[in-house]
Amino acid sequence: MELFKTIKELQQALTADKNKGFSIGFVPTMGALHRGHLSLVERAGLENERVVVSIFVNPTQFNNSNDLKSYPRTLDSDLELLSSYPCDYIFSPEVTEIYPEPDTRKFDFGTLETVMEGHFRPGHFNGVAQVVSKLFEIVKPDKAYFGLKDFQQYSIIKAMCSMLQLPVRIIPCDIIREKDGLAMSSRNALLTENHRAVAPQIFSILQEAVSEAELFGPEEIKKRVIGKIASIPLLQLEYFDIVDELTLQNITSWEHQGVKVGCIAVFAGSVRLIDNIVFAK
Ligand code: PAJ
Repeated sequence: MELFKTIKELQQALTADKNKGFSIGFVPTMGALHRGHLSLVERAGLENERVVVSIFVNPTQFNNSNDLKSYPRTLDSDLELLSSYPCDYIFSPEVTEIYPEPDTRKFDFGTLETVMEGHFRPGHFNGVAQVVSKLFEIVKPDKAYFGLKDFQQYSIIKAMCSMLQLPVRIIPCDIIREKDGLAMSSRNALLTENHRAVAPQIFSILQEAVSEAELFGPEEIKKRVIGKIASIPLLQLEYFDIVDELTLQNITSWEHQGVKVGCIAVFAGSVRLIDNIVFAK
């Protein structure tokens, strides 16, 4: 496993690999790695001859400067964790390596970016698309791995690839959870003990919503989820939407064709958590 800080060094290693005909799998991350990230690395290792993991806390996707400041940075322990996974190259650049000058590109993802995360975090997905398009250009992977915990991000990345006609296959990976159901997230480390104790209820409420879908329509399910979160004093709901997996538009009936996904964002104190669950195949 080798650590590179510059584009030049990484590309030297990758050129040699590509000349040998090796396939390249890529896992972009912001570090503070946990089993969710590592499951992506594991999958990339099974499907490619070389695996690149990037660790870069991308400033352009943070719409809140405190969030950027407090985002956990744990490079040493990340390297330690990755050493027992099929990771060949770690790319951990400084901000100036990725943004030698400000990135002024504006992407237009239409309604995919005006709902849910896009609505509550204006500019967030533009920043994600800026950094991921740059990273794809640097690594030129055959496949790139994204977690379904960030469901809307996965949709945006697919849209970006078709918009820019990038020859990379985007591989969706299942959500990895703590034993108590809480979706793993780098931000979980920032929860107070009391908030950590109630956070698993987010997933329990999503599971209840799925089982109650036998009895109630989508609008009623929405109201019930809102009511349940409101009854937990340490949690504050930002949104809960039941959307079509492709358009991300709200659905109003279970008769709706296509996969329906319940997406939630909740504040546990100052920590913002997101999760989602599939309603029907
Ligand atoms: P980050 O939050 O570090 O996540 C990196 C990748 O790990 C994303 O694809 C995310 O969906 C996935 N992931 C996180 N938690 C997961 C979990 N519990 N189960 C499965 N996968 C999980 O997402 C980003 O970074 C950034 O926006 C990035 C794409 C790197 C661009 O800066």
